[in-house]
Amino acid sequence: MPQSVQVITIDGPAGAGKSTVAKELALRLGVFYLDTGAMYRALTLKAIRSGMNLEDASGLVDLARGTRIRLENHNSGTKVLLDGEDVSDAIRSPEVTNKTFYIARTGGVREILVGWQREIGARQSIVIEGRDVGTVVFPKATHKFYLDADFEERARRRIKELREKGKQIDEDSLKTELKERDHKDFTRSIGPLKIADDAVVIDTTHMTVNGTVDEILKHIKNGS
Ligand code: C5P
Repeated sequence: MPQSVQVITIDGPAGAGKSTVAKELALRLGVFYLDTGAMYRALTLKAIRSGMNLEDASGLVDLARGTRIRLENHNSGTKVLLDGEDVSDAIRSPEVTNKTFYIARTGGVREILVGWQREIGARQSIVIEGRDVGTVVFPKATHKFYLDADFEERARRRIKELREKGKQIDEDSLKTELKERDHKDFTRSIGPLKIADDAVVIDTTHMTVNGTVDEILKHIKNGS
């Protein structure tokens, strides 16, 4: 990676505050924000729409090979383009959220998506967030962070976020689904969620978004 290009990775479980924090951090630093989860979600949406068998690993790899996913940052938020179609809202549906694991556990698909992520980070400075971005995608990143929060707080944030979007939420089912997603993210054999040895761990349970961004900027300034 050229010296002038900075890669800042943020990993952590769902609801730890990664997206909000990563977006704000990228804005403050004036660099590109890369939401890798959006790529896994967009491919899941395409697989669901095509009606294919989600257990078919080689079919999923072929699907990934024939797909173009583009992420654009706008003032209004991140736009996710799947083969040219704006799917920014569609990829946040509960069905996509709960089926993303089929894509995420398929090694051949991860290789393709990781390749796209590396290409984006090779040409410009980025703040990249996901599950494996500091461990697999950019093991030599300039700065690595791992955001965490108590389970109840993560669930509370997800419920609030979905309610703000006008969605009807059953709290118990959301908690069960979040637990299942955590389990799958932590235990998959390829690209599981884990803390990189050289990552700074921040517990955001009692922190605000701006407080977390300030903390990250402090570490970046100090060179950690
Ligand atoms: O970050 P987000 O919750 O949108 O990610 C959706 C799902 O995509 C995660 O639960 C995970 O299974 C998968 N993912 C992944 N690796 C990444 C980012 C997301 O496996 N780097």
